[in-house]
Amino acid sequence: MKVNPCVVMMLISLVAAMPWGEGVKIENWASKLEVKKENITKLQFYFHDTLSGKNPSAIRVAEAVDTDKYPTLFGMLMMADDPLTEKPDPNSKLVGRAQGLYGSASQQEFGLIMAMNFEFVDGIYKGSSISIFGKNSIMKPLRELPIVGGTGVFRLARGYAIAKTHWIDPTAGDAIVGYNVTVIH
Ligand SMILES: *[C@@H]1O[C@H](CO)[C@@H](O)[C@H](O)[C@H]1NC(C)=O
Ligand SMILES: *[C@@H]1O[C@H](CO)[C@@H](O)[C@H](O)[C@H]1NC(C)=O
Repeated sequence: MKVNPCVVMMLISLVAAMPWGEGVKIENWASKLEVKKENITKLQFYFHDTLSGKNPSAIRVAEAVDTDKYPTLFGMLMMADDPLTEKPDPNSKLVGRAQGLYGSASQQEFGLIMAMNFEFVDGIYKGSSISIFGKNSIMKPLRELPIVGGTGVFRLARGYAIAKTHWIDPTAGDAIVGYNVTVIH
């Protein structure tokens, strides 16, 4: 069947003119929405992972029988609820919390697999979150982690985070890590 290009153009402009939320009905159970222009947001904050003391922000929840035989603690799994602050100082403004799991997924190097939700508490970002999933080779000066999704302001997010250790206590395992995040949403 030959499609009249004028009709196609008319349909396309109709779809483009529809405001957000009022889609074009395709079937009873489906509708098509206009794609809004995307925004790029850059975020800069510090992640505080504290294993020592009376109130650690990350705790070991699982391990393999042989985990402690590996210098890389292969098989160790941690649950974290780490504060995110504006500056490296732990007492600087709280901008969010990093909650989720990270574990040693590498036998050769210190490589953590991270599955975490970063939820923000400040300004227009309050209640919005980004989801991070990827490998964090913590001995490297700079690491890149994928942003695989988000909620609220960051709905449909994708992007990447660059992580850089700002400070570490190698004995206790406590660390402050700088994050520069670029999110398209
Ligand atoms: C992009 O940012 C503008 C201004 O803050 C906002 O009105 C718009 O909804 C945003 N677009 C998306 C797709 O989030
Ligand atoms: C983030 O960007 C700032 C400014 O460009 C830079 O000074 C800082 O080192 C970067 N931090 C990370 C973790 O990449």
